[in-house]
Amino acid sequence: MQQAIVRVVCAIGQSGQLGLEGKLPWEGNRSPPYVADVARFFDLTRGHVLLAGPKTIASVPKFARVDRELFTVRSSMDPQETLGRFAGRIVFIGGGPPVWNAYAHLVSHWDVTRLPYDGPADRWFDPRWLVGGS
Ligand SMILES: NC(=O)c1ccc[n+]([C@@H]2O[C@H](COP(=O)([O-])OP(=O)(O)OC[C@H]3O[C@@H](n4cnc5c(N)ncnc54)[C@H](OP(=O)(O)O)[C@@H]3O)[C@@H](O)[C@H]2O)c1
Repeated sequence: MQQAIVRVVCAIGQSGQLGLEGKLPWEGNRSPPYVADVARFFDLTRGHVLLAGPKTIASVPKFARVDRELFTVRSSMDPQETLGRFAGRIVFIGGGPPVWNAYAHLVSHWDVTRLPYDGPADRWFDPRWLVGGS
């Protein structure tokens, strides 16, 4: 059976900031790099599967729920078995960090945009994910 193609597209701040209080740390920033990054995320994931933890899925805006398949993963679910549901599809692993910890070893392509943001965060990118670990 054809396997899922497993990718990540995410955005980080200058020091690896990923999230703050359940949102993107730069949420609401309308300056060009941030607006372009969100648009690019929705372009790249259009038509594909976006698999993520419950908080990340809850933060996907209504308009973006129609042209990509959203799938909530829980810690009780086995990553290999979960991906088996999506044979032949492109699956984007959308985070947050515990989800990337569990799926990093299965990812074939990381697309990481480093934004100009350099403020606080409570969720951080772990570079070990890029080599399949955590
Ligand atoms: N900058 C970016 O590109 C980006 C991308 C994504 C998220 N974020 C940010 O990250 C934050 C949300 O992430 P979060 O981690 O707090 O919440 P989350 O998205 O709900 O992801 C974490 C949850 O996923 C579940 N999970 C599913 N599979 C798992 C597994 N195999 N192992 C462990 N846990 C698993 C766990 O919940 P259960 O135990 O309840 O199942 C865990 O608490 C927000 O601030 C968001 O904006 C940023």
